[in-house]
Amino acid sequence: MAQNKIIVVKKVITVKDKQFDLFIEQAEIEQNIKNIAARMNAELDGKRPVFLVVLNGAFMFAADLMKEVTIPSEITFVRLASYEGTSSTNSVKQVLGLNECVKDRIVVIVEDIVDTGNTMVALLKELEKHEPKEVKVATLLLKPDALKQQVPLDYVVLEIPNEFILGYGLDYDGYGRNLKDIYKIK
Ligand code: IMP
Ligand code: MG
Repeated sequence: MAQNKIIVVKKVITVKDKQFDLFIEQAEIEQNIKNIAARMNAELDGKRPVFLVVLNGAFMFAADLMKEVTIPSEITFVRLASYEGTSSTNSVKQVLGLNECVKDRIVVIVEDIVDTGNTMVALLKELEKHEPKEVKVATLLLKPDALKQQVPLDYVVLEIPNEFILGYGLDYDGYGRNLKDIYKIK
């Protein structure tokens, strides 16, 4: 027989050397994702989009989003590799996993967070080389006060202040991606 469970969400957590406060709970994230998915279902109906999920950060967002997307569509995954050593680690060198499936298609980039916007601008530039018909950008989070680039943002699930967050796919030094809720640095 099913038992009623009381779900206790930890308000403060420690990840590596830092403390984080609970910021956005899973239920709120999921409700906002449902709203965005409903818009996609209406706006992209009949367009057979390809959802291009940016790993690692967007894996949890993509999983919840795609369960709510009901229109015929494909899903594919890319990973960004940046220069290491002599060059800046900010600049995207390669988009691993990008292939011909985007040519002449409507592509919806699925990203975890747009901070300065540098990553998204670099990704859009790479994507253009593969001749998509149209590109739309969906991001779980946006830090409007951190934006340094003009980025076309079609679907923004939540806007947050310019502070470091983790959970729900986002990491601090590799940890915390598996947290159900989003936490903000103390
Ligand atoms: P941007 O190029 O400055 O827009 O940064 C984008 C990337 O930085 C994201 O894809 C994340 O991987 C990472 N990032 C930015 N802000 C945060 C944060 O608050 N928590 C965790 N990762 C972040
Ligand atoms: Mg990312």
